[in-house]
Parts: sequence; structure tokens; C-alpha cells
Amino acid sequence: MVRLALFIVVALAWIVPAFAQSEQAPIIRYDARFNPVIAPNGMVAAQERRAAAAGAEMLAAGGNAVDAAVATGFALAVTLPQAGNLGGGGFMLIHLAEENRTIAIDYREMAPAAAHRDLFLDAAGNVDRNLARFSLLSTGVPGTVAGLVHALENYGTMELEDVIQPAIDMAEDGIAMSYPIAQSLSQRGERLQRHPASARYFFKEDGSAYAGGDLWVQEDLAWTLKRIRRKGAEAFYRGRVAERIVAEMEAGGGLITMADLAAYRPVEREAVRGRYDGYEIIAMPPPSSGGVHVIQMLNVLEGYDLRRLGHNSAAYLHLLVETMKRAYADRSEYLGDPDFYPVPVAALTDKGYAAEIRSAIDPGQATPSAEIAPAKDLRAEAPNTTHYSVVDAAGNMVSNTYTLNFSYGNGIAVTGAGFLLNNEMDDFSAKPGVPNAFGLVGGEANAIEAGKRPLSSMTPVIVLKDGRPWMATGSPGGSTIINAVLQMLLNVMEFDMNIAAATAAPRLHHQWLPDRVFIEPGISPDTVAALVAIGHQFGRPRILGATQTVMAGPGVVYGATDPRRAGGGAEGY
Ligand code: DON
Repeated sequence: MVRLALFIVVALAWIVPAFAQSEQAPIIRYDARFNPVIAPNGMVAAQERRAAAAGAEMLAAGGNAVDAAVATGFALAVTLPQAGNLGGGGFMLIHLAEENRTIAIDYREMAPAAAHRDLFLDAAGNVDRNLARFSLLSTGVPGTVAGLVHALENYGTMELEDVIQPAIDMAEDGIAMSYPIAQSLSQRGERLQRHPASARYFFKEDGSAYAGGDLWVQEDLAWTLKRIRRKGAEAFYRGRVAERIVAEMEAGGGLITMADLAAYRPVEREAVRGRYDGYEIIAMPPPSSGGVHVIQMLNVLEGYDLRRLGHNSAAYLHLLVETMKRAYADRSEYLGDPDFYPVPVAALTDKGYAAEIRSAIDPGQATPSAEIAPAKDLRAEAPNTTHYSVVDAAGNMVSNTYTLNFSYGNGIAVTGAGFLLNNEMDDFSAKPGVPNAFGLVGGEANAIEAGKRPLSSMTPVIVLKDGRPWMATGSPGGSTIINAVLQMLLNVMEFDMNIAAATAAPRLHHQWLPDRVFIEPGISPDTVAALVAIGHQFGRPRILGATQTVMAGPGVVYGATDPRRAGGGAEGY
């Protein structure tokens, strides 16, 4: 009897903690090679550490996830000039835990009123790439300032003057030039130095490059930020900042007028939703293609036993690639600004349609892409879009991706206002079938029209578990964003990786055209050979995305910044 009692006590002593552990802490495991940052209350994960810290500072001051997100958004405009911005646009997804409510803010740039379908065609009817990417015609009406202020005013708890202050301090007092940004500026030097204002803002007075550690002051940017502090978004879209934007346009042949700026509005849209293995996926709707296609692809992949095939096995990667091809083929035909084109969101994210796609996939053979793309690899454009994710102590989450499109946008800074302009107009389809800078093709749905927003691949996502915000993630990477986010989600939801391990795992990309698989280093030559044997063709290996992720665990929060980009930070409080 005593023995039995002793046995039960000893057994319970083993079993209870084992249960408690598996329920409470599947995230930190001794068998993981990568582990996330942990904090008790809140977390901001961003591609630049000081901007993440600016957000965490708001959380520590009692602000919510939206306050932190807006602080990080403004701070990145100072500390990460290649992607953080005032002159670009993006998408912010918010989930308020207590109200169980999602808000999807579209602050994507808009084509100015004078834009038209053939804007980038030359006399012979060919796309003039230079015009579409590096002239002032490439600039859409910026949405960032309106988007951030809209989020703060409607869903934040703090004053604009408090959340914008870290950005102002860093611009006015200067920051130490970081090593990654010094390197990136030197790589883009030629493009930036063509424009006197850009040369002045991003290089020393004698024209030489900053070295890592040098003090870098941005006075004109501080001027703009201080006007926003005083007058809100009005300061950017009317008045002196707007006048400086328009003066730049008039001097350099751009289209944006005072009326275009005054007319800009962010739009709240209905988020797209899907389910995978008991999780609820919430994502950005069009004019981003990311949410629709992540959900479409998860619907297709849900029908396979991926775990049995094994993470990054040839059999698994084959199914991923075949699914990606079909989703990107649909993207080229059906996706665009929903205010101008009836995007069939429900049909594309329907489980029945996913089953049809699945039945067309041969598990033992690659299907060649329906059309052959120009025989070229994807253009290697430096990383430039940026994502950040926030969770606060109440469990609210923000997932935000914003961009200038290319690194430093079109390279043209607004004289006297200190910020760069986007070249987002290249995300439109300049001519049916002609690929944009990311090799993406499109047609009617994404043709240029006045007041229309160009189709995007940006994919901010929030995942709910048991009805509560559980994970927020997203990535830069142009056309590769959707697939980077897809693999991040699968790594966590299907393969039970913690968010740091899921981030570090090698990724792969296929976008239908060109008919090529792009892999990251780390996928083995044996795996590649197995895929070649069943008909897949490979492009040059490349780095795919840079996710920034947070997760809520019982009693703690987790953060993971992507090691693919130097200088990132997951800052908790
Ligand atoms: O909105 C889009 O899809 C593109 N403008 C994003 C560009 C991008 O991610 C570049 N980053 N590598």
C-alpha cells in the first residue's frame, strides 16, 4: 500500500511537470538551435533595433500595441532609410484582443489624378523601365503619414507628440550610422548622388560616405516630423511639407499635385480570413495580394500530411512549389485594387477551389508553368520593404509592412523635407504580360488608372489560437514575401517550430513565371537533385525575405528578428 502510494507520488512528480511543461512552454526547447527573445509584457520585433526600442518604450510607458507600432513606424523613417519611410505606403493589421476585433488599414500609395494606363510606354509602345522605376513618375501619392496617424487616433491611447518624439530626437540629435546602413548606402551611392537633396541627406558634406559609427544628423527630416507632431497628418498633405513635395514634382516632371495630396485617405478594409489546422489566419485583403494567396495556399496544403513528409524534404518542397505556381498564376489574372476591379476574394480563398487545385497537382511530377517567361532570373534588388510586429500586455497585436518599393525608393529625396519618395507605380502592370521589377506579370486588374492603388505582395498576418491573438508576422522581399510568410506560418503551425527556429529555416520560392525554383543556401544538393529528377528547374540561390515575428505565450511574450538582415531587434519590456 505504502509502496503503491509512493509510486503514485513519484509518478505524479514526473508526469505533472511534464504536462505543465508541454502546455506552457513548447516554445523554448532544449532541442532547438534557435530561440526567441522572451519578455514578460510586450514585444516589438523590427528590422532596425533602435526603432524597435522606440516602440518598446511606448509599451513601457503604458501605451498599447498601436502606440508602439506608430512610434516604431516613425522611428524606422529615421533609422532605416532604405525602407522605413514617410514618402511610401503600406498596410497595418491590428487585432484588439478584448473586443476580438480586427482592423485592416490600407495606406498604400495611390496613382495621382494625371496618371493613365500608358504612363510608362515609350513611342514604340514598350515599357520604359527607367521611367517606371527611377523618375518622379514612379511615385505614388504617399500614404504612410496618413496611415500611422489614422491608426493612432482611432486605436492608440497616447498622444502623437509622445509617439513621434523618439523619431524626432534621433533625426535632430543624430544617431550613430549603423554598419548595415553604411554598407547599403555605399551600394546605392550612385543612384542617390544623382539627386542633390539625396546626396546631402545620406552622404557627408564633402560627398564621401558615412562609416559605421559616424554621427548622422537629419535636420530636414526632423523639420518635417516636428510639423507632423504639431499638426498631425494635415502637416504632410497640406501646407509647407506638401508644397515642398509638389515643388520637387514640378522641378523634375512628376505628376503629384496639391489636390492629389489633399485627397489622399487611408482605407479600413475587411480583413481576409482563413483556417488551418484549428488556427484562424487573419490577413490583409486587396490591394495586397498577400493575404488572399497565403490563405489560398494554406487551404491547398492543408489537404496533405506535410508532417509525415518531413520539413524541407523533397516531397514537401515539391508540394509547396506546385501550390505556389498555381497561386501566383491566379495573382497575375485576378488581383488588383478592389475599388477598381472586382477581385474574386471569396472564390480564391474557398476550400472547394483549394481541393480542385490539389487534384491538379501530381505528387510525383512538376507541372511546367503554363507559359514560358522571359528566360531570366528574378532581378536581384536589395531588400527594402520592412515589416514589424508588436504585442502588448493585453494581448493586442499589430502586424505592419510598409515600403518605398526599391531600396531608397526612386532615390529622390524631397528638397528641404528630408525624406525619400517611393517608386511604387512600378508595382502596376505597365503593359499586359511585361514583368515588373519583381518579375511579376499582370493585366487589366492591375493596369494603371488615376486614383488606383498598385497591387502589392506585402503580407502582414495575425494568427489567432483559441480566439486570441497568438502570432504576428510579415516580411519584405517583393514577390517573395507571400511565400516567405507562408513558410513561416507552416514552420510554426505544422512543424511546431518556435518562432526563431521557424525564421531561420531555409526557404524556397516559385512565382509561376519565370518557371524556376529559387532556394536559399541550406537546402541540400540531394534535395535539389530529387526535385530536378521530377521536372523542377532552379534559378540562382538567393535570400528570401526577412520576417519579424512576435508570439504570445502563457505569461510571457516572444520575439524573433530575422538573422538574414543585420541590425534587427526584438525589444521586449
Ligand atoms: O508592395 C509590394 O509588393 C512591393 N512594392 C514590395 C517591395 C519589396 O518588398 C521590396 N523588398 N525587398
